Amino acid sequence: VLVDKANYRHFMAKEIHEQPEVIGQTLAHYVDIANESVALPQELPFDFNAIGHISITACGTAGYAGHIAKYWFERLARIPVELDVASEFRYREAPMRRGDLAIFISQSGETADTLAALRYAKSQGLHTLSIVNVLGSTIARESGIVLQTLAGPEIGVASTKAFTCQLVVLAALAVAAGKARGELSESDEVDLVRVLIEIPRLVTRALASEPQIEKLARDIAKSRDVLYLGRGTSFPLALEGALKLKEISYIHAAGYAAGELKHGPIALVDESVPVIVIAPCDRLFEKTISNMHEVAARGGKIILITDASGAAEVSMDTLATVVLPEMGTTFTPIVYAIPVQLLAYHTANLMGTDVDQPRNLAKSVTVE
Ligand code: AGP
Repeated sequence: VLVDKANYRHFMAKEIHEQPEVIGQTLAHYVDIANESVALPQELPFDFNAIGHISITACGTAGYAGHIAKYWFERLARIPVELDVASEFRYREAPMRRGDLAIFISQSGETADTLAALRYAKSQGLHTLSIVNVLGSTIARESGIVLQTLAGPEIGVASTKAFTCQLVVLAALAVAAGKARGELSESDEVDLVRVLIEIPRLVTRALASEPQIEKLARDIAKSRDVLYLGRGTSFPLALEGALKLKEISYIHAAGYAAGELKHGPIALVDESVPVIVIAPCDRLFEKTISNMHEVAARGGKIILITDASGAAEVSMDTLATVVLPEMGTTFTPIVYAIPVQLLAYHTANLMGTDVDQPRNLAKSVTVE
């Protein structure tokens, strides 16, 4: 497939901006929009009621999508989830129960460690389900069930649209699991699916934060270290934000669960450290904001990403507050991913790095 950059400077910028469209395409594949219900494209060869555990395995950004989905499967379907990076899982000799479910997430479908983990799970008699973007890939071919993300070809080494599409598929799957297990009523399903259907529009609105983010990138580009904080599903998104910034701008960044800060990382904070706080106004908001105050008291420069209700509740001065649209609280990472990607992108641009092909990295990692 020949893909060009259209009017964008980089594939990454183009792929960030394609998200409303490709998320919409992916949604249309997993959700019955007219009936506001989940509609998986194929019947699953197992009953969610018979699944005792789910194991999710992936690498990098795909792994963070899995980490977010852990919260969804546990909360919406009450299924315990174990999450592993593939390079650890493959040698961990994890005891697994025959008949349980193992999920693998991979944009390329060729990541060597993820493939090895898939083969191990198969050998242990698990149902294997892969979420892949490239249909003819090895992981797709070897999996029991394949759920495709309809992100289209992703060229930039930094994964953006594949990540949000993975989240859409995982969200639909978690709702399907919750319904099958009787944890979600039909009206719960309608409420959740309504939010999913709104996401392309919400992502478009989140993209409107770009001029503000572009300015903020100037502060980030001057920094040596950047911290990302979040709680709940915003925690894995904080990890993803830090990875995105590191891989394309070469600025050191780390993501933490906001509540972990006082157990060590807060020692890093001084006036020179920007701290990106990802805090939609959900049930954990107050907790995250109190962690934000701890950071501010040590001079950290706060960039708060929240919604209008969140912004209204915060009285302290921040370096900036990025205000995203209000939405149901469960699926916020799909929309909050946008400013996080844009911040990495614009910072890298200022640093003059090779955004689409950062040094030392490959789009698909087919070696161990
Ligand atoms: C993401 O920005 C990275 N370049 C990388 O972490 C990537 O997500 C990882 O290598 C997994 O790739 P895959 O999805 O093709 O398996």
